[in-house]
Amino acid sequence: MDRRALKVLTFVAIAWLSGCGGGSGTPSADDPIVIKFPHVVAPGTPKGQAAARFEELAEARFPGRVDVEVYPSAQLMNDDDSLEALAFGEIQMIAVSLSKFDRLTHAFQVFDLPFLFPDIAAVERFQRGPTGRQLLSTLVDEGFLGLGFWHNGMKHFGAGSPLRHPQDADGLKFRIMESDVLQAQIEAIGGNPQKMAYGEVYQALQTGAIDAQENTWSNIYSSKFYEVQPYFSVTNHGYVGYLVAVNPTFWNNLPEDVRTGLEEVVAEVSEWENAESIAINEQSLVNLRDSGRTTILELSDEELAAWQTAVSPVWDEFADSIGADLIDAARRAADDD
Ligand code: LMR
Repeated sequence: MDRRALKVLTFVAIAWLSGCGGGSGTPSADDPIVIKFPHVVAPGTPKGQAAARFEELAEARFPGRVDVEVYPSAQLMNDDDSLEALAFGEIQMIAVSLSKFDRLTHAFQVFDLPFLFPDIAAVERFQRGPTGRQLLSTLVDEGFLGLGFWHNGMKHFGAGSPLRHPQDADGLKFRIMESDVLQAQIEAIGGNPQKMAYGEVYQALQTGAIDAQENTWSNIYSSKFYEVQPYFSVTNHGYVGYLVAVNPTFWNNLPEDVRTGLEEVVAEVSEWENAESIAINEQSLVNLRDSGRTTILELSDEELAAWQTAVSPVWDEFADSIGADLIDAARRAADDD
């Protein structure tokens, strides 16, 4: 049995055990229902603001009955640990990058295919369509019920030296999220990919343990990567977005009025987040330029085309594991503007 299959089995076992009464988080009569919601980014990011808004609206809707505890900036745990903790029922809610579910499903790899989605509007069309909606329940048996998708934004590359052409990436150590598609993407441009938790990136850039990374303007600005990274290239080559998920056993055991009420709150917050994320990323780019600490390189159409060509083999490599239907649905949504 390979490592991935073993990991999936472990999650299924954990999800099953937590369903048998092991720490589902369901309170006794008068206790408030506690929803622990850790995440790894700063409070001012799209996800950080949405998590705080969820806390505010959920508690206002169910005063004294629901107590949401948001832990930003990896204060409680990193994303990897939060996947396990949710399946175990130790926490009740997450919004983890779709890329980081790679060890549990290949379906979300579609979101990591480089240059598939030209912009957030294209991702939105895919996520709102029937194929995208089905993805929300892909991982129920592993202990994750998806309630919605939240965007962060489009990714861009940053490095210690200017990245204009794919050859500029040759031999550089790139931090990536825990995704095999992202690993193949960096290998395709001649880089050396390093899977690393988000909370370790700043220091790794500072000490030179890594040379480069990819992320959204909002993450780059709020985590101050620009202090230790002199060059960014506007590439829009990929997407960072989140599965907002709860432990299905915990959720299905909630009193019905609370469950449906909280689902409405999540839907409202998701609408808000997905609209705001674009403005927050635009403002973060303005802030980065204004900081005067880093250079933002605009690439010509020819330069961007060279990056696109360099990473195109990744599509063939992952076509079978993702599945043609999923890729076709995403491409149709991407082309349909
Ligand atoms: C990353 O690890 O780069 C992102 O997943 C962080 C986040 O949650 O946006």
